[in-house]
Amino acid sequence: ESPPAEAGAAALAAACDSLPALRAAMAAFEGCALKHGARSLVFADGNPRARVMIVGEAPGQDEDLAGLPFVGRSGQLLDRMFAAIGLSRHAEAPEEALYITNLLPWRPPRNRDPAGNEAAVMAPFLFRHIELARPDALVLVGKIAVGAVLETSEGITQLRGRWADWRGIPTLPTLHPAYLLRAPIHKREAWADLLSLRARLDG
Ligand code: URA
Repeated sequence: ESPPAEAGAAALAAACDSLPALRAAMAAFEGCALKHGARSLVFADGNPRARVMIVGEAPGQDEDLAGLPFVGRSGQLLDRMFAAIGLSRHAEAPEEALYITNLLPWRPPRNRDPAGNEAAVMAPFLFRHIELARPDALVLVGKIAVGAVLETSEGITQLRGRWADWRGIPTLPTLHPAYLLRAPIHKREAWADLLSLRARLDG
């Protein structure tokens, strides 16, 4: 049996039939203590009609201040990477657009990794978010998002670049831009993943 906060989140998320309703349910949710250490609920950015939805880990300081995902250094790299295959969070046409969110809507203290229970409690909201946005392709960036959505403990180096299926949506795990900033040599794998995404969208 699931612990109460997880069961509560699942029921609340299932009852949301629109993105604004989901955002409101998350803002009102009291089952995750991260909320109290954060300034903003970071819900999403970009175009909810985009063909491609990106899921990251959690807001950092810049995101917490802006109330938007991926606006700091990693976000700027993410934007450049996706721009290279013709996709932007600012595009209006769904074919050229991105919709961006995170597993966790609140910044963990001092940017620590999300604890397992925090991820488990908030995952039902993310799952509903993906179902409501209904992208043609889902891109999971980094091991935390990959682990939470694909419910696997296999390593990111094994999983990246291999298409998976999440409830009928083609899903591509890839490397996190924060990791690429620390280890730029791995940009070549990230580039291969972006080309695979481009090919899937074109095919
Ligand atoms: N890293 C993430 O995973 N998400 C953000 O929004 C910013 C940095």
